Amino acid sequence: MCGIVGGVGKLDLRTYLLSGLKKLEYRGYDSAGICYTESGKTILSKVAGRVASLEEIVPENIHPTVGIAHTRWATHGQPNAQNAHPHQSQRKIFSIVHNGVIENFRPLAHQLKARGYSFNSETDTEVIADMLERFYLRSGSVIESIAQTMEALEGSYACAIMFKDEPERLYFMKKASPLLIGMSDGCMLLASDPVPMVDYTDRFIDVDDGDYGYLTPTQVKIFNGRVEIEPRFVHRNVDSFRSDLGDYPHYMIKEIEEIPGVVVRLIDNYFDGEHFTFNESMIETLRHTKKIHFLACGTSYYASKMGAKYFRPLGKEVLVSIASEWAYDPYDITGDTVFVLVSQSGETADLIRCQKIINDRDGISIAVTNTKGSTIERKATYSCLLYAGLEVAVASTKSYVAQVCFLALLFAALENEIGVVLDIDRVVDSIRNIISRKGEIEALAEDCKEVRDAFFVGRGYDYLASMEGALKLKEVSYVHAEAYPGGELKHGPIALIEPGTLVVGLVSDPEVSSSIRNNFEELRARKGRLVIFSTAAVANENDAFVANDVKPYLAPNVLVVAMQYFAYYVALAKGLPIDKPRNLAKSVTVE
Ligand code: M6R
Repeated sequence: MCGIVGGVGKLDLRTYLLSGLKKLEYRGYDSAGICYTESGKTILSKVAGRVASLEEIVPENIHPTVGIAHTRWATHGQPNAQNAHPHQSQRKIFSIVHNGVIENFRPLAHQLKARGYSFNSETDTEVIADMLERFYLRSGSVIESIAQTMEALEGSYACAIMFKDEPERLYFMKKASPLLIGMSDGCMLLASDPVPMVDYTDRFIDVDDGDYGYLTPTQVKIFNGRVEIEPRFVHRNVDSFRSDLGDYPHYMIKEIEEIPGVVVRLIDNYFDGEHFTFNESMIETLRHTKKIHFLACGTSYYASKMGAKYFRPLGKEVLVSIASEWAYDPYDITGDTVFVLVSQSGETADLIRCQKIINDRDGISIAVTNTKGSTIERKATYSCLLYAGLEVAVASTKSYVAQVCFLALLFAALENEIGVVLDIDRVVDSIRNIISRKGEIEALAEDCKEVRDAFFVGRGYDYLASMEGALKLKEVSYVHAEAYPGGELKHGPIALIEPGTLVVGLVSDPEVSSSIRNNFEELRARKGRLVIFSTAAVANENDAFVANDVKPYLAPNVLVVAMQYFAYYVALAKGLPIDKPRNLAKSVTVE
């Protein structure tokens, strides 16, 4: 994970690097650091904790010519200042920031130790700096040392590199981790994604795997292998990368309340009032394939589970796999399968690995992502955007609802079922109603703020929504939460129910409402504390929150919004850092 920024040339580098890091904190935020050259001197500062702490120790009146900075999600070594990036080579001639994981760093460290190198950190990154130095001392060329280092490294990396004797040059190299170059007046910028650069430029180069090179204030040099590549800047609409909090206290609640607008925009993008407007060739491919196989992680995986249930009436085999599992057991790669890769960020490492496997075998993939220009979007056979706008909070909210509605629309397009659009319109109204009644959910959450464990229980579609509800509660409120299908409780989990154990029950589907209500009674008989979220058609008078009716196959989208508020308000009552929960990062860019 981790976010990197770098810049060279005529700009206020302190502002760019520090504000850029803040915008990248969604990629990790356990330590941060900066390195810059001023009047020929290289200055390094690092802290444990957030970028705000780094900002306090970087003098305001600096005028660097080149600089790099990093916000970290620890993969190797504890999140302390010593392990924070930038790292420097033994003779301090190279300073680097790195996003990725070097898989062979132990043997490389061993080789370096044998040549007299010692290490100041527990990271895999320090090895890169020392490898650069070692090759530079032999060749006398920075570019050559980068090429040789890349040949030696296994794993993933996007690196920005400063060389002590070149105060107006910023080097880079990239494999598997994302890296972009931005061009502005009199300066060149680097970052893990466009967000830090959008106030400076709308012209970017997506650095390709295997590329390396350098930036000067006015020039870009790119090599791949030993061949020079023509740099090609492309214009990107940067508006979709902006988001500010406005009057909201947190991005999570802001993004929950954007959901109705997101769903309306989604419909507008895929339905023109009479017809669905999906790519025709993609629709035909899906119609003719024998199998549809969803791959995703986290929230996107739960959304895919819902989507898969929609697709079952197509009479095809429909599978859903967790990307990190499938990547190491990639079954089902035949010409009969279309893979659907669902990802908010489009940069999730496990999913990128799956995509590579699919592409290497000439498989067909459809990317469903919120991020235009992301790796998944660019590398899929077909790609479809969610148009949910930038999602900043680590906890996915609006993108879950967008993903599920997208998959419902895609199914509808395959079956020419225009009625689905009307069904989704009602979802919008029902979610607006929940937003207007969020105070009711806040009161329920306030009552539950002391709980340590929670069970989320439902059947059918409601069970699928329970899984997402439990994930939201655990990630932002640090409550141990698990989802179970109502019928499974008696097969083991009910042993954990003690007097007062919180059970969040979901019921919206009339087909299973009587059986799930029986399960709730079994839990009450063991003195579990039930908080039931239902929809009007199946509501009981003691239910804690009753949402307006929508079609049962879409009801999870409505109840999930109530679950999102519930998790948000429990975290708020506990005073937790809602948008950046501990140990997490928004975009999981390492496997
Ligand atoms: O960007 P992606 O949708 O590929 O991310 C997948 C998961 O990392 C993500 O959904 C994660 O589970 C969220 N923190 C959930 O809120």
